[in-house]
Amino acid sequence: MRVPTINGDGPVRLAPLEPAQVTEAYVGWLNDPVVTRFTEVSAGQTLQSARAYVENTVTSPDSALWAIHFDGTHVGNIRLTHIRRRHARAEVALIVGSRPHWGRGIASAAVVLVTDFAFASLRLHKLSAGIFAPNVASRRCFEKAGYFHDAILKDHAWFEGAFCDVLQMARLAPPSSPSSPHAPTEANR
Ligand SMILES: CC(C)(COP(=O)(O)OP(=O)(O)OC[C@H]1O[C@@H](n2cnc3c(N)ncnc32)[C@H](O)[C@@H]1OP(=O)(O)O)[C@@H](O)C(=O)NCCC(=O)NCCS
Repeated sequence: MRVPTINGDGPVRLAPLEPAQVTEAYVGWLNDPVVTRFTEVSAGQTLQSARAYVENTVTSPDSALWAIHFDGTHVGNIRLTHIRRRHARAEVALIVGSRPHWGRGIASAAVVLVTDFAFASLRLHKLSAGIFAPNVASRRCFEKAGYFHDAILKDHAWFEGAFCDVLQMARLAPPSSPSSPHAPTEANR
């Protein structure tokens, strides 16, 4: 789906991602085993495969994809997938591919921006994120954005020579949100 630019109060901005923005540096993130160790990104990514992924995602009605910019530099991506209108839910995932940018609060800010957008503009009710249990930094990002522990998927991913659990974290729309059963409608206003 086509998405708007989302500006926050700080240096993190989310901008629609286009296939042409996939550079060699971008492909380098996807082929960096330190970046991808907690993800399901396949090894051996190329400019062609990465551009095809972006093209498929931005043209899918069930997905939304943004580049994460920090002070104007493209440092990663964040996406919504499995957008289910009938059930008002979607899944969130992100990658800060530029390792020198880790630990600056960028992922935390991006999760907050996309979460607010999903509830306010897409009128979703529930967002979920699947996080490899050892991925402490990612868990912390989502906790800080108000996500709770929704479920544990036992031995759900292969991580460095053994299966690991995947933690499903989730957040529900606030009561004032358009999707909430508590929000005023024409019928109950
Ligand atoms: C995980 C990832 C998203 C974190 O991005 P980031 O921009 O560095 O995260 P932030 O700077 O917002 O930090 C998030 C929190 O995790 C903490 N943290 C960061 N690294 C940590 C680590 N190794 N151990 C424990 N906590 C850590 C930070 O201190 C911060 O918490 P705080 O604000 O309470 O201090 C990023 O490293 C990344 O994209 N990694 C590769 C792909 C990936 O794992 N994606 C997530 C899949 S669900």
